[in-house]
Amino acid sequence: MIGVDIEDISRFENRDEKFLKRIFTEIELEYSLSKTNSAAHLAARFCAKEAVFKALSSAGINNILITQIEIYNDESGAPRVRFLDSSIKYKVQISLSHEKEKAIAFAMLDLKDLEKYSYHPCYMGDEG
Ligand SMILES: CC(C)(COP(=O)(O)OP(=O)(O)OC[C@H]1O[C@@H](n2cnc3c(N)ncnc32)[C@H](O)[C@@H]1OP(=O)(O)O)[C@@H](O)C(=O)NCCC(=O)NCCS
Repeated sequence: MIGVDIEDISRFENRDEKFLKRIFTEIELEYSLSKTNSAAHLAARFCAKEAVFKALSSAGINNILITQIEIYNDESGAPRVRFLDSSIKYKVQISLSHEKEKAIAFAMLDLKDLEKYSYHPCYMGDEG
């Protein structure tokens, strides 16, 4: 399953702390606010959360909140997803990009992994 989202970077310019903390985790804020164009990185992270939400939702998984999804960067700089509730173990891959005005993100949910979970609408509950 895949998900995508695109946002205007300007939506994330000069936002107050209350707004930022409602949407983003400490890790996301620390990373984005350390960059020159913070709004672009914030917008990309917002897109990623929405894209992950869409990929999960397309698989019939509707019990995940955007605030439970954290985007972080590995040592190479590649973006990764984790869920703040450690009992949520879906594997989702993402890719981000930001330009002057827009940010975009794609997410892909690993369906192989999903077979372990009864949320999958195609899961019959009788495998393995
Ligand atoms: C990493 C790279 C692909 C980013 O591309 P870019 O056009 O500069 O910037 P984009 O806005 O499209 O993408 C930025 C996002 O790429 C992601 N990214 C960074 N390093 C990454 C990596 N190693 N793997 C996957 N994604 C990566 C990050 O999510 C980053 O956004 P973030 O900092 O907000 O998390 C690019 O800098 C690079 O190193 N390219 C190597 C290929 C190359 O040399 N091309 C030039 C050919 S002339």
